Amino acid sequence: MNILLTGGAGYIASHTAVVLAQAGHQVTLFDNLSNSQKSVIANLEAITAKTIPFIEGDVRDTQLLSQVITEHHIEAVIHFAGLKSVAQSVEDPILYYANNVQGTISLLEAMQANGLNKLVFSSSATVYGDPEYLPYDEHHPLKPMNPYGQTKLQVEEMLHDVSRSNADWRVACLRYFNPVGAHPSGLIGENPSGIPNNLMPYVARVASGHLPELSIFGNDYDTKDGTGERDYIHVMDLAEGHMAAIDFLEKHSGWHAINLGTGQPHSVMELVTGFEKASGKAIPRKIVGRRPGDLPVYFATVDQAQKLLGWSAKRSLDEMCESVWNFQTKSMS
Ligand code: NAD
Ligand code: UFG
Repeated sequence: MNILLTGGAGYIASHTAVVLAQAGHQVTLFDNLSNSQKSVIANLEAITAKTIPFIEGDVRDTQLLSQVITEHHIEAVIHFAGLKSVAQSVEDPILYYANNVQGTISLLEAMQANGLNKLVFSSSATVYGDPEYLPYDEHHPLKPMNPYGQTKLQVEEMLHDVSRSNADWRVACLRYFNPVGAHPSGLIGENPSGIPNNLMPYVARVASGHLPELSIFGNDYDTKDGTGERDYIHVMDLAEGHMAAIDFLEKHSGWHAINLGTGQPHSVMELVTGFEKASGKAIPRKIVGRRPGDLPVYFATVDQAQKLLGWSAKRSLDEMCESVWNFQTKSMS
């Protein structure tokens, strides 16, 4: 199938591109490079030994998207393009609504103009908000706690309306939990610019000596060791989940929300210990106060993904840490 990946040079999209290309799909990548580098494309071509078309552009450019859809005979779209920093979304909500919501409207217009109706959307566990119960299932109330989460919810609702308006639409909103890890080649992975906000890339830079020590945001939560717990999922498992969603939409119409997680929460301390084992390096750390807005713990129910997509995550926390260390030592030092 000819599949367009918006935000195609980004972290999750690049891993998904590898999985799709290696399964025989033709992928076309579209990205404005606001949070990625063009050099990723050469690495993707090296991994897959295939030519991967790349178009530099903004998803808000409906005309360019429409042209790409026609020229590359696109049959399905995976919409990764968007901004993802919670803190930045609080500071500049307009930027987030413009990129994430307006960007999706533009994509839908381009798809509609070309009779294209198969769409996988990058949503987030952040749509659930403060847990009323755990693990979150897909029926949990949706109450995002910041503008970033609001943009994800608004897009989900818009897509739901669109699929109610026309039974031909086939939409999967994939609610990712905490994606981490890298491709086994070590050629692609998560490479945030500046000081990372997220735990795994921060730990990797402490292990490699690029940052002096990790601050652990609180050890007084009501969790197994007092530190925050999350449902970390290997990006290669996540990538395979996208391919399963594309296959699912071949056979099923309508709108579907599906959690992509492992169903297993891990604490900050477990991840740090796992990374020390994978890297053979000590991770200097100190306990500091809780980070405002952090939830103590959340994780996914994974039955829906298993039932609808026939997919479940397979890779362990150790494999996540090992792959990040491999990427850190091969590509980032
Ligand atoms: P990423 O920043 O690496 O990838 C997003 C890509 O989209 C980047 O390459 C960026 O340049 C591009 N982009 C942004 N705005 C664009 C625009 N207007 N036009 C064209 N390209 C644009 O992030 P990621 O971690 O790969 O996330 C991919 C998607 O998954 C995002 O929508 C994100 O919100 C969502 N998501 C990510 C996480 C996570 O923790 N990584 C969790 C849940 C959901
Ligand atoms: N943490 C630290 N020190 C750090 C960074 C994080 O102790 O330097 C802790 C946090 O307090 C939390 C855990 O590590 O307990 C995970 O934090 P991350 O920042 O890696 O991930 P979050 O779950 O806070 O947030 C992520 C994405 C958000 C998204 C959310 C839900 O960054 O964009 O998952 O999907 F909204």
